[in-house]
Amino acid sequence: MTTDSTYHPQQLHTYVTEVCGALGSEPEEAGLVADQLIGANLAGHDSHGVGMMPAYVASVAGGRLFVNRHISVASDSGSVLVIDGNRAFGQVAGYEATNLAIERAREAGVALAGLRNSFHIGRIGHWGEQCARAGMVSIHFVNVAGNDPIVAPYGGADARFATNPICVAVPSMGDEPAALLDMATSLIALGKARVAHNSGLELPSDTALDGSGNVTRDPAGLMAVPRDGAIIAFGNHKGSGLAIMCELLGAALTGGMTISPRHERDDSAINSMLSIVIDPGALTSRSSLVAEANEFLDYVRSSSVRAGFEEVLIPGEPELRARQARAAAIAVDDGSVSQLRWAAGKAGLPETRIEELLG
Ligand SMILES: NC(=O)c1ccc[n+]([C@@H]2O[C@H](COP(=O)([O-])OP(=O)(O)OC[C@H]3O[C@@H](n4cnc5c(N)ncnc54)[C@H](O)[C@@H]3O)[C@@H](O)[C@H]2O)c1
Repeated sequence: MTTDSTYHPQQLHTYVTEVCGALGSEPEEAGLVADQLIGANLAGHDSHGVGMMPAYVASVAGGRLFVNRHISVASDSGSVLVIDGNRAFGQVAGYEATNLAIERAREAGVALAGLRNSFHIGRIGHWGEQCARAGMVSIHFVNVAGNDPIVAPYGGADARFATNPICVAVPSMGDEPAALLDMATSLIALGKARVAHNSGLELPSDTALDGSGNVTRDPAGLMAVPRDGAIIAFGNHKGSGLAIMCELLGAALTGGMTISPRHERDDSAINSMLSIVIDPGALTSRSSLVAEANEFLDYVRSSSVRAGFEEVLIPGEPELRARQARAAAIAVDDGSVSQLRWAAGKAGLPETRIEELLG
């Protein structure tokens, strides 16, 4: 077990903007990266929070991720857009691509946007929230390539794809979505194994396999180079099927890179994402969608609670609660702090910057 240091979210935000600045990012880019990473910590997803910075710094240094790059539109046929992420920061590519898709959905009622060849676009819920704030419903299918597979298919003993996330967001009349499903199609996200490894914790039971295909709770094999083991796809054959569809829709359909061994694996996290952005006004109206949704969601919440459970939650509620609980304090484990020291030093800042920010 390791101990934690507790940071104010603003201190971690400053750390990320300063490290990005030291890498050469323009202030707007540094702000987008920090907003998304610290937003993930605030939402309770440390797997996609400030702890991503060491991988980003290593990727910039290794010439796999490029600062100050932007998206380019590869093809544009009205409500259908194919967008190249140009190995920009995923926080920039995701933001720009989502903005374009929202704009098109406003004009046409629906937009289909394929974003390919972006560096890691982080917590996909961030893009669902961007759509929901604009009053849009959105559906996102995402694959992860550029690295070895990490998730075993149903019945498989070794990995064939990554943690391929899916997100569906439904707006409310305010800024927060009425419901936001944002999930890896693996039983756990890889970043959660990293956090467990850094914290000296075991993996949840029945979530991972060792190199021989046996169930294990030790995260070490998943973090080893080369990797020795796999995470199990969620939901048996159904979840494994959804993960496969993320690869086919997110990457094959958008002209992106699947994780097929024919494509280069250079220790990157290259995401491709198919986003379907829908203006509710094209089918009904936002207010009517929200009224019907709220009535239904309340009906779901009112289910009597099974033994062993405390309550029934709607997707997105755990993140809302985490945001309230973490508004003034985010715990970072010692293993992650030492990686953040390394990242600051590699980017050209004093290694002690992360401790200095703690004051
Ligand atoms: N960019 C990438 O390559 C990539 C890859 C994989 C995952 N991710 C991200 O990793 C993050 C973590 O994914 P995860 O699958 O570990 O998340 P998770 O298992 O914590 O949550 C998944 C979903 O379930 C909902 N949920 C959780 N507990 C609930 C409960 N008790 N009742 C009702 N709903 C509940 C959450 O609101 C969320 O929508 C996501 O933000 C995802 O986008 C990114």
